[in-house]
Amino acid sequence: MTTLLVTNIGELVTWDDERPMLNDAAFIVDGGKISWFGQRIDAPDADAVRDVGGAAVIPGFVDSHTHLVFAGDRSAEFEARMTGAAYEAGGIRTTVAATRAATDEQLAAGVARHLTEMGAQGTTTVEIKSGYGLTVHDEARSLAIAKQFTDETTFLGAHVVPHESEVAAYVELVTGEMLERCAPYARWIDVFCEDGAFGADESRTVLEAGIAAGLLPRIHANQLGPGPGVQLAADLGASADHCTYLSDADVDALASSGVVAGLLPGVEFSTRQPYPDARQLIDAGVTIALATDCNPGSSYTSSMPFCIAVAVRDMGMSPREALWSATKGGAVSLRLDAVGHLAVGAKADFTVLNAPSYVHLAYRPGVPLVVG
Ligand code: NIG
Ligand code: FE
Repeated sequence: MTTLLVTNIGELVTWDDERPMLNDAAFIVDGGKISWFGQRIDAPDADAVRDVGGAAVIPGFVDSHTHLVFAGDRSAEFEARMTGAAYEAGGIRTTVAATRAATDEQLAAGVARHLTEMGAQGTTTVEIKSGYGLTVHDEARSLAIAKQFTDETTFLGAHVVPHESEVAAYVELVTGEMLERCAPYARWIDVFCEDGAFGADESRTVLEAGIAAGLLPRIHANQLGPGPGVQLAADLGASADHCTYLSDADVDALASSGVVAGLLPGVEFSTRQPYPDARQLIDAGVTIALATDCNPGSSYTSSMPFCIAVAVRDMGMSPREALWSATKGGAVSLRLDAVGHLAVGAKADFTVLNAPSYVHLAYRPGVPLVVG
């Protein structure tokens, strides 16, 4: 086993409790993990050396919310929105039709292509949901494909009621045969709790069935308007993603339950909705994860740096808070200890920036800063 010294780091972000950020730093990778970090001049010897020439090094991004198993294109829907049409949950059915018609190979190639895009933008951990199949067969194959790429797979059979079904019968299918066939490929269960998708009672039924089958809960909550999703998340200990329309009681529920709020700025950008108020959440003590929600409908970006830039510019987050939420926050949302940070013992998932500071992620929006 060879050791690697990464050195001449202008700014190193570790999120270590005592030394979260260091200048003129170095670290050692041993067996795929961080075994030492500190000042460059104190670095021990290693078998190999990588000199990053004064660049900033950050933990790889943890994208805790994506929908990468899909086929088809919805650029016409985006264009219509940008000229006045509203986003509607029903657009999901367009992608369902294209996904059902695609082969496994086509779907897997799409996932691979998007993961390559993400890797080039500094992402090293990705969660992937099903949710564009909506039959037992198509949900199970979506998850089997996702599972080829990540352990963070989420069963989202309850994305929307497919056109051929009626809601009660579909919830029965999702919580019965579909769950049984999908659970072996999934770590998480999710539901779109929203007008036009699933109501509070249906969402609770779906999540409780998933929990009983050994899955961990997540929820699409309060995305298109105020609703019961966040309260349900707090009740069940589920990561509450979106959180665009929150009441004061919702903010209190997030803070007192300790569930993570997953904020997805690409959605508000691409649907012309108001951004969630990250500042209010942070000030209330809520833990925030930032993620792309990469999907062909509401947020077709694969870029965590883009999400950071928007969160800083329009959601009241400092650059440091946004970076934390895009790395460690994502790991907390996914209940992963080894990623999202670079303290001793962490997986050596690091991202070198072509910049002297992580602040450039927000300061230079749209500029490809990731070296690798
Ligand atoms: O996270 N909210 C539900 N699902 C996706 C959108 C899916 C789509 O429009 O295709 C989301 O925004
Ligand atoms: Fe989503």
